[in-house]
Amino acid sequence: MTQPMPAQSNIGDHVARRADFDWSQAREILGWPADQHNIGWYCTDRICEQGLGDKLALIWESSDGQTVKRFTYDELRQLANAYAKFFTEDLGLKPGDVCAVFLERIPELYIGILGGLKAGIVMLPMFSAFGEEALAARVGPSGAKAILTQRKLCFRVRKIREQVPDLQHVIIAEPGDLEMQDGEVHFDLAVAQPLGEFAAYPVTEESRSLLHYTSGTTGQPKGAQHVHGSLPQQALTTLWALDVRQDDIYWCTADPGWVTGVSYGVIGPWSLGITQLVMECGFIVDRWYKALQEYGVTMWYSAPTAIRLLMKEGVDKVKEYDLSKLRHLASVGEPLNPEAVVWSEQAYGIPFYDTWWQTETGAIQICNLPGMEIKAGSMGLPFPGVTATVLTDQFEPITEPGVSGQLALRPPWPSMFREYYKEPSKYESKFKNGWYLTGDRAYIDEEGYYWFKGRDDDVINTGGHLVGPFEIESALLEHEAVAESAAVAKPDDEMMEVVKAFVALKPGFEPSRKLEMQIMNFIRKKLSPLAMPQEIEFVDKLPKTRSGKIMRRLLRAKEWGEEIGDTSTLEDD
Ligand code: PRX
Repeated sequence: MTQPMPAQSNIGDHVARRADFDWSQAREILGWPADQHNIGWYCTDRICEQGLGDKLALIWESSDGQTVKRFTYDELRQLANAYAKFFTEDLGLKPGDVCAVFLERIPELYIGILGGLKAGIVMLPMFSAFGEEALAARVGPSGAKAILTQRKLCFRVRKIREQVPDLQHVIIAEPGDLEMQDGEVHFDLAVAQPLGEFAAYPVTEESRSLLHYTSGTTGQPKGAQHVHGSLPQQALTTLWALDVRQDDIYWCTADPGWVTGVSYGVIGPWSLGITQLVMECGFIVDRWYKALQEYGVTMWYSAPTAIRLLMKEGVDKVKEYDLSKLRHLASVGEPLNPEAVVWSEQAYGIPFYDTWWQTETGAIQICNLPGMEIKAGSMGLPFPGVTATVLTDQFEPITEPGVSGQLALRPPWPSMFREYYKEPSKYESKFKNGWYLTGDRAYIDEEGYYWFKGRDDDVINTGGHLVGPFEIESALLEHEAVAESAAVAKPDDEMMEVVKAFVALKPGFEPSRKLEMQIMNFIRKKLSPLAMPQEIEFVDKLPKTRSGKIMRRLLRAKEWGEEIGDTSTLEDD
């Protein structure tokens, strides 16, 4: 399928760009000063200094659709300043201290992050649906001294206070008549006094900025540590891959609890002075279409699960709305099915452009750029400045087209994570022969296009969100009836994958539908709705290697109807 070159894409001739671009040119292309690196400053002060203070930065619609708030860049700047002052002067936080953010998609979430970054504080976004255990597994190891939260969620924070002794300040938005406990303090936009000036902390490119926890196969989630020097890549990919324009109304549907919602729901658009929409509500088809129509969204960055749900509603539903302002669509988080690309052309008149990246990469690495020939189902080509390959099991680049291997990237790149927080050996294990190992499998075709094959590990991708089997299995073990368990991915039409748990019960417990529901709920509350198994299969025992390791691979293969492969290390052989 060939796409006509859009009249004026930001990147222009992407082939020429690819040929002569390297990251050292990024700041100059963006017209940025060489001596300022603070992300918070770029997203607020710089835009105002350019005379765009009156431009809308944020259009926010409440979950019930009843309230719409609008913030100009100057308001964003002054409120971010108020947060920065509050963190530093009122609470005594210092640059480099960590502040967790545990909020629903309310303006405080976005503006609080900017305020923290301006003050040099490391921000740690948490998904608002996290239960106590998921929260403690991230806030605890991060050493966070403060957490921004809201009335509705603060009860979960209260439950983990004793497990996270470093946490000194719980900052509650809209507490209402809540009786405050020790260490709790009220601060939200309603009490924040806009502050004209706050000198952005003079960070370097290597100063810590955001800590994003992500799941692996083994152990609890790891904190991918990002730095302020990530910004040129986040901005340039927003400009060239998401192709934003100054008069855009941009909507990234991702929650800032995940990396997409920060890299492209805070940093990318605001560092370029773009107006963005935030919907507090989650996916509701009519609300989404109405928002696209009413706010005149022009650039829409979403995810395959949402697109599949929209496809189910059909083209007729699209016709009920005027979506003629849409100019560019992009997708991330999971494989974008070829049918979804074709469907979106029928439904919206333009295809979704797939982009690939990860928490660790901090920004888009492989993508379909405007003007490129899109091959439906392919992730596209490496972004200018990115060197990618696929590797053999011996970590050698595969030169033959069409042969799958582990997708790998050549470090460094600006938005690359700098460590797994306090886990140096896990970080080191991600690099082999000078390549960063992504944990994904892919192949490259004759024309250099990348095609996603699947994960190279046991991580489960449900609706674009990674969940780690270890975290689920640990939580399962805390249930009184569970002797041992294994969590694996099971195919799902909408979410691509959902969690399925195999559970062996302790003596005295009998499998039943009631027990299944009880265990599911237990996980939902402890971790999150995404980590909750959609199905539990009770088994007498789990397949293990002779050394006692549970073989999730076997259980997963059964779910996917795949060949089981080598079972020679199995204990029962
Ligand atoms: O497996 C890939 C899948 O999501 C993983 C990264 O997830 P996370 O670190 O949570 O970051 C999400 C924000 C980018 C990848 O290793 N993934 C991401 N994008 C795609 C994808 N799989 C296929 N196609 C994509 N476009």
